Formats: sequence, structure tokens, C-alpha cells
Amino acid sequence: MKKKILALSLTAAMAMGLAGCGGDTAPAGNSGTPAANNTGSGGETSQVANNQKPLVWFNRQPSNSSTGELDMNALTFNKDTYYVGFDANQGAELQGTMIKEYIEANIDTIDRNGDGIIGYVLAIGDIGHNDSIARTRGVRAALDTAVEVDGVADSAPVGTNTDGTATAVKDGSIEVNGKTYIIRELASQEMKNSAGATWDAATAGNAIGTWSASFGDQIDVIASNNDGMGMSMFNAWSKANEVPTFGYDANADAVAAIAEGYGGTISQHADVQAYLTLRVLRNALDGVDVDTGIGTADDAGNVLSSDVYKYVEEERSYYALNVAVTAENYKDFTDSTKVYEPVSNQLDAGEHPTKKVWLNIYNAADNFLTATYQPVLQNCEALLNLEVEYIGGDGQTEGNITNRLGNPGEYDAFAINMVKTDNAASYTGILNQ
Ligand code: BGC
Ligand code: CA
Repeated sequence: MKKKILALSLTAAMAMGLAGCGGDTAPAGNSGTPAANNTGSGGETSQVANNQKPLVWFNRQPSNSSTGELDMNALTFNKDTYYVGFDANQGAELQGTMIKEYIEANIDTIDRNGDGIIGYVLAIGDIGHNDSIARTRGVRAALDTAVEVDGVADSAPVGTNTDGTATAVKDGSIEVNGKTYIIRELASQEMKNSAGATWDAATAGNAIGTWSASFGDQIDVIASNNDGMGMSMFNAWSKANEVPTFGYDANADAVAAIAEGYGGTISQHADVQAYLTLRVLRNALDGVDVDTGIGTADDAGNVLSSDVYKYVEEERSYYALNVAVTAENYKDFTDSTKVYEPVSNQLDAGEHPTKKVWLNIYNAADNFLTATYQPVLQNCEALLNLEVEYIGGDGQTEGNITNRLGNPGEYDAFAINMVKTDNAASYTGILNQ
């Protein structure tokens, strides 16, 4: 805190010192380092220190990967820092409920080997990622297989549990039409490849091969923390064996697969998230209230309604709200890369001059981020008069990405998607130099 006050007063002093330079009142300078000479793509030169530039974290919320505790230092890095993601708990509950309702509606045919046990397997994305943890908990809570530890459902993988003796889960039960069935998590595993990449679709495809070879007829349902892994299992095994598979993200291929037996998915409103990611930067660059074009209509008429997002001030975080996508409504979700209609109006180029944004995707092989999120960002950026440079990481090391943030002075704002939620300082350290 003390450091921040010092930085702010230095900023004020330097801004005053620069008052003669063409009336540029943008905050400039930071403790010890001269302000970078920043040529925005609009042609005008501004003197803004990198650590005073707008910064948005997205998709991976700065937080402790073991406890989930938010990293408030990273979230309040400067006055224009925010996080954009989605409501992980609301979405997780929705995913669990969607699976449970499917089981209830298909109870006559779901128990493939007729042993009275509804068996499911679960693909876990990243045991240290809060979205992944929430989804594992949501599925277990809805299917009554959760075991509470310190008041929250255990989210640890069980490995194999065909005999029902694992301690991280319990056998659940469900009553339908007066009959009680057991629900068992037969197996679950973190889908991490040997190089360390998590949420790994290929690993999930291999896992379903192994699981189905040893206890295939016991598997009645497949749950996955995301569609990338879900579709890999669907294509490798469950489509041919007609086992309903449920994912998350509403990627276009998964939505299309609902017509071929994919059980369902959750839209985390990537269109709203992508817009918010760029919008908070735009607002900071324009020096206007952060709610502009979000909860309050902007001059072009862009505005979001409260049923698609929420803002939690003390977390400096915007969260998009989720929607279940099933056989009933999937036709409304086939184009996952479209700009969300209520925020699709072009900003005036005179009032909102072009600015440059550096943005990274932590893993260029992540299905959701590259097939859904990035395309919507690309469709939004021109509307907001932003020029975004996209950097794709290898999903394993922060260095692979930070190495390509060699010239932060060339950009007006930053949008960051970390490999590990604990690693915010790898980025803020560079901006502080
Ligand atoms: C998505 C996953 C993705 C992960 C990457 C999650 O929000 O649902 O599909 O792999 O983010 O961080
Ligand atoms: Ca069974």
C-alpha cells in the first residue's frame, strides 16, 4: 500500500512536470524509471509508464492455485486493472444440474449394463485452476457423489474407483419414478500431458481408451471440465457407443455434436467476456467511467443487461453468466464466435482513436481460447477501435509468453492470460521495469 501511494505521488509530480508538453495530462512515470516513449497507432505520442497502463487479466484469475485465494496485489496493480472471467460457481451448478436432469429424463435407458449403478467418468482440466475445481465440485454436488472437506466438496481426482472405495467421492443415490439408483464416479483424472500442459484434449482421448477397455460397459455418462476434452472422448469412444458426454464452453464443434449425441455443454458467454476484456481497456484509455458501454449505454448504444454479467467491485472482477446448451436450444448457439448483439455498435473513430493492445493466450492449443474466445475478440476489436496483437503461448511456461513482451512501451494496454494463476508477478514485474 505504502509503495502504491509513493508511486501515485510521483506520478502526480511527473504529470505536473509534463504539463507543458502539449497538454498531455495522462499519468506518467513511476518510481525510478523514466516514462516510456509510447507511440500509439493513432500517431500521437503519449508518455505513459508501462505500469500505469490499463491491464486486464482474463480467463485465469490471479489467485493461489492451492487455496483459490484471490491475488489482490495483481488485481489492483494499478487503478485501471481488472479481471474478466465468468461466474464459475453458477456455471458449475448449471453443468451438474444439466447432467442430473439428463439422467432423470433418460432413466429407462441410461443404465447400460443394468446393474442399478449409474457410472460416470470425469475429465478434470487443471487441479489448480479455480474454474476446473468449481466444475468438478458442481458435477459431484449435483450427482450426490461429493464428499465435504472443511465445508466444500473435495475436488481431487480419484484415479479409478470402480469398486466405490475412493475417499474423495462417495456413492450417491438418485430416486426416479419411485426407484433408487446408485451413482458412482468410476474414474477421474487430471488431463495433463507429459510436457505439463493441462486441459489436454489428447490426454482425455487416451484416458477414455484406457477406461473403456477395462470397464467400458459400466460407463453410462461422461462428464468433462471442458468441451476440448469432452469432444476428444466423444470422438474416440462415446459417440460410437452412444454414451452421453457433457462438456463446458459451447465451442462450435461441441454444439454441432449435440445433434449426434453429445449430451450438452455450458456457454460461459465468451462473447460477453471478450467484449468486457477489451471494453475495460477502451474505457480506461478514454478516461471514462469503467461502466461505460457495460452497465451504462455508451454513445453508440452498446450496453449489457444484468442477466449476462455481474461486477464484483471488491474483487475488481467482471463475471459473465452461464447458460446451459442442450438438445432443446443448441440451434441458438451454433455460431460461437459472433459479437454479442447488444454490444455490436461501432465506436466513433474521432472520439475513440485507435489504440494498441498486447494480448496473450496462454496455450495456442487450447480449444476454447483459440476456437471461441480469440475469434470473438477479433470480431470485437475493430468495433472498439483497438488494434490487438495476439501472442499464443505453449501452455506450459510463463517464460514462453513473457519473452514476447519485450517491448511493452509499444502498446497502450495489456490483456493477460497466465499459464498458472499464481504467476501474475511474472508479468507485472516486466511492466514495473
Ligand atoms: C475453459 C477451458 C479452458 C480454460 C483455460 C476455461 O475457462 O472453460 O476450456 O481450457 O479456461 O484457462
Ligand atoms: Ca450401470
